[in-house]
Amino acid sequence: MRFEITVEKVKESRISEFDPQNIGFGKMFTDHMFLADYKNGEWTNPRIVPYGNLSLSPATSAIHYGQSIFEGMKAFASSKNNHDITIFRPSDNAARLNRSAVRMAMPEIPEDLFMAGLHQLLEIDRAWVPRTEGGALYIRPYMFATDDYIGVKVADNYCFAIFACPVGPYYNKALRVKVEDEFSRAAPGGVGFTKCAGNYGAALYPTALAQKEGYDQILWTDPIEHEWVEETGTTNFFAVYGKTVVTPSLTNTMLAGITRDSVIKGLRHLGYTVEERPISITELIEKQQAAEISELFITGTAATLMNLDGFGRNGTYYSVMETPNHEVSTAIKTFLDNIKLQKSDDPMGWNVVL
Ligand SMILES: Cc1ncc(COP(=O)(O)O)c(C=O)c1O
Repeated sequence: MRFEITVEKVKESRISEFDPQNIGFGKMFTDHMFLADYKNGEWTNPRIVPYGNLSLSPATSAIHYGQSIFEGMKAFASSKNNHDITIFRPSDNAARLNRSAVRMAMPEIPEDLFMAGLHQLLEIDRAWVPRTEGGALYIRPYMFATDDYIGVKVADNYCFAIFACPVGPYYNKALRVKVEDEFSRAAPGGVGFTKCAGNYGAALYPTALAQKEGYDQILWTDPIEHEWVEETGTTNFFAVYGKTVVTPSLTNTMLAGITRDSVIKGLRHLGYTVEERPISITELIEKQQAAEISELFITGTAATLMNLDGFGRNGTYYSVMETPNHEVSTAIKTFLDNIKLQKSDDPMGWNVVL
């Protein structure tokens, strides 16, 4: 291996505090984490240490100037071999982290360092992968600038880290989304296609306003006309018209979801027609009025696949649940779940088995 990872294990595991029947999301972390430092133009000191607080200078540049990016991925307990776990498409997350890094003027992570850290962490904390229905180990790789320096410039020093938390299902009901026509998530030429921390901070206020109005999430539209559907806060969007599935084509204001890509490829594999093209709100309203929308659903690593109850725009709510027929979303969810849990073959070669 090109990178020698040092390992310091916990004296006593916290796993007895973990109740697999009552997991929640993002509240409990596994025993260890992976860290590496970027200094003098190279990645150094890769290490597994007990999960715990980091010590940072008050001038840490990520806090002030926002060079901070992250990923989200999942590992699953195999239903085939008791000891095995599967990681879903990790090299796609490594590649997306590096696309974010380039745009944010941060150093890229060599894929072999990303994978070595990930594998070793999961090897050590494998007992934390839930075996309960709908459970998974959520994995958070991230990188941030650590210069102890005040002044806006590209930082010289960075920390790359990976930690993991056992999670249960994210949402457990059909969601109501608000079509956003005032605020924007991202601008052309900006950083919408990256997973930089600022994208999420900027979305919190409009999302809180939408939640006050009784919505679960925002359905973001393009920042110019507020007419073209983009995505929700943490998921991509799909509509089903009979046997045809449509999803907005990617732009540089949207995140290229790995679940989105898996859903498109999986549906095509199952024989459905999937169109990637611009989708207007006008089209969605017309289709809803003509009762031609059979399903709306959103997809993401954390949320997996969630059906929408409907969407609201300018005080009018358009429900799709009056014609509930979740044939397509159920088919693709089952297809993907069976691959992740090794209940079926993996025709696309998406799993890494550990
Ligand atoms: C803004 C946004 N869109 C879409 C997604 C879905 O991406 P993925 O399927 O890779 O989790 C995410 C989650 O990472 C996200 O944060």
